Formats: sequence, structure tokens, C-alpha cells
Amino acid sequence: MSLLSVRDLTVSFPTSDGVVRAVRGLSFDVEAGQTLGIVGETGSGKSVSALSLLGLNPGADISGSAVFEGTELLALRQDQLRRVRGAEIAMIFQDPLSSLHPYYRVGWQICEAIRTHRRTSRAEAMRQAVELLRMVSIPQPERRVSAFPHELSGGMRQRAMIAMALALRPKLLIADEPTTALDATVQAQLMELLGGMQRELGMAMIVITHDLGLVATVADSVLVMYAGRGAERADYRTIFRSPHHPYTRGLLASIPGAAGSGGRLVPIVGQPPSLIRIPSGCAFHPRCPFAMDVCVRDQPPFVPVSGGEGHLSACWLPPDAVGVDAAADVARQRYVEGRRGPAIARLRAAVAGARPGGAVAHG
Ligand SMILES: Nc1ncnc2c1ncn2[C@@H]1O[C@H](COP(=O)(O)OP(=O)(O)OP(=O)(O)O)[C@@H](O)[C@H]1O
Ligand code: SF4
Ligand SMILES: [Mg+2]
Repeated sequence: MSLLSVRDLTVSFPTSDGVVRAVRGLSFDVEAGQTLGIVGETGSGKSVSALSLLGLNPGADISGSAVFEGTELLALRQDQLRRVRGAEIAMIFQDPLSSLHPYYRVGWQICEAIRTHRRTSRAEAMRQAVELLRMVSIPQPERRVSAFPHELSGGMRQRAMIAMALALRPKLLIADEPTTALDATVQAQLMELLGGMQRELGMAMIVITHDLGLVATVADSVLVMYAGRGAERADYRTIFRSPHHPYTRGLLASIPGAAGSGGRLVPIVGQPPSLIRIPSGCAFHPRCPFAMDVCVRDQPPFVPVSGGEGHLSACWLPPDAVGVDAAADVARQRYVEGRRGPAIARLRAAVAGARPGGAVAHG
């Protein structure tokens, strides 16, 4: 049995402009001691999904199921969820200042996190705080434990947050864009640190990021999200070598020097859709170089494809349309020819009309 099983998670926010359908039937599993990377562009529903598991989405309509060690998280009251948060499932947020209080010393905050959940003397909690800072490679932890957050560098603050999240030895750590505000070298160091901690403590981890390249350094498996749904899921090797979904293919090609881009950086055409007015059928169809009539009409199911065990994709291309090389693209394009009809012709005309110069950049 998986440590966490999420099934058909649906989250929407009623707003004055209409209903924001942020997460639309998302399913995934996290195995004990393993790392799942959740990747997608801004607004794809990554944070909302994670926050919903921990009851941190006030005002949202939530349905589906999220079973953590046999307990249905979505049925827990707030006081029950508070016991789960931190002790069983800990979360690291993108902005360390949103979790570290500016007016309290770092060590004191870690002590409080420990003492809220565990019967521990102040002196013992402080000893553990120093040990935790040492574990996350903060130099001179005995001194830094008395620092205020603003006295630490950005990377150091992120490490202190990681220390705080690890204080209660959670079984699952959710790291939501833990490194975005940092430069590339510090990002890589922190990812390495998280990977090391995950192995040392035997905990499971969900790493949320828009950077497929970054996730490669830590994840065992990867879930690619698009417009609130799962687009593709597989072990990380399959995602990099044999992706099926054109969106995953696009994310790969937009990593500098990555497989499938021929060393060039090729951004995905267009913008993520509005979650109030989501395109019909496959939500990716207005941006997809392989779109067919069926894509405009019907939403593709999230089903197994041929890349490897546990490889799922929500795309109408045939199951064996996997790979990143030009030959795979030619095979996909051949399949698509003849399956395009009036709906795609209208779509292309609309895209061409909206584009300066009238050129259709894909297809
Ligand atoms: N409280 C809210 N009320 C209305 N809409 C919301 C609310 N919270 C999130 N949303 C919307 O839900 C969608 C998904 O947001 P989410 O924060 O999950 O995206 P994300 O994938 O984490 O993006 P990013 O990479 O920018 O962090 C967005 O369109 C966002 O504007
Ligand atoms: S279902 Fe169609 S539009 Fe969607 S990703 Fe697959 S080929 Fe592209
Ligand atoms: Mg987010």
C-alpha cells in the first residue's frame, strides 16, 4: 500500500469572475521512502493540490480522496489536521519568510515546532535545533541558532526552513518550489541536500517545481501537470528518455541543452489557459503541435502507454508514440495526418489570426 494515495482530487474556487477549476480529477501515489516530482507551468494547480491535502485551502470546494497511512485526510477536522501537519507531513514553502517569523530567533522557532508536538524540555529542544542546523550543513550551528532570519543569507534561510520541517522527522515532506528565489548553484546544493536528507531519514518526499531539469536530480518518479490534471506520469528515466505527452516533450525541449531540444532552447508556444475558461477536450490542444479533431472534442483519459511500467499519459496519440528524437516526432506527425479535420482547421485559423504576422508557429 502506498504511503499516500490521491484519487480524483478536484479543487475549485468560486470567485466573482466565475469558478476557478484549479485541480480537476488528479490521482497519484507516493511510496514510502520515495520522491515524487510534480512539475508544470505556473497556475497548473501544483500548490493548490498540495495545500488541499493539509487543509490549507480555505474557501475551496474540494472532493476526491487522499489517504495517508490509512487515514482519509480530506475528512479530517482542522484540529486533527494540525496534528498531522509538521509531525506526519511537513511542508517547505517557496518563500522562507512566510514560514520563518522575522521577530524570533531561528533556534527558538525550531524549538517551538518541536515542543508543540512533543513533550520535550526547552534545553533538549535547543540541543535538537543545533543538531538539525548541523544536519542541513549550516556552518557554526551553535552560533546560528541564535540568529534572526534576516541575519541569514537566502540559501541559509532555506536551509533553516528545511531544518524546521525535518524537526519532527515527518514521514512525508512536501517541498513546494523550495529553491526558486535562489541562484542556480545554491538551487542545486539545496536539491542535493533534500535528496540526502530524504535518504538519511527514510522519509518520502513530494518536490513541486516548474523546472523539469531540477526535479531530475532528486525524483524517483515524475508527475507532469497541465491545467489542473495529470498529463503524464512515469519514473524519471522514462520521463526524460521516452515521454509520450507532447507537453512533457515541450517541457524537456525548453530545458537548456536537454534531450530532444538538439541543444537548443525551444519554449512551448502560447500561454497556460485560464482555469475559468478551460479549452474543450484536451486542455493542451491550442498549443499542441500534434492536435487532432478528437483532441478538441474529447478529454483524453489518463491511461498506460508503452514507455515503461507505471507510465501513464493523457493524450490521444497512440500508446507507442514515445521518445524525444526527430524520428519519433515524424512518426507522431504521420499518425496525426488524416486525423485532422474542420475543428483543427478552425483552431489554426484562429491562432493565426491572433498572432502578429499571422504565422502559425506549430504543426
Ligand atoms: N484562493 C484562491 N482563489 C481563487 N483562485 C485561486 C486560489 N488559489 C489558487 N487559485 C488559482 O488556482 C490556480 C492554480 O494555482 P496554483 O497555485 O496551484 O498553481 P501552481 O501550479 O502552484 O503555480 P506556480 O508555479 O505559479 O506556483 C491558479 O490559477 C490560481 O490563480
Ligand atoms: S490529446 Fe491531442 S492535443 Fe492533447 S496532447 Fe495529445 S495530441 Fe496534443
Ligand atoms: Mg505554486
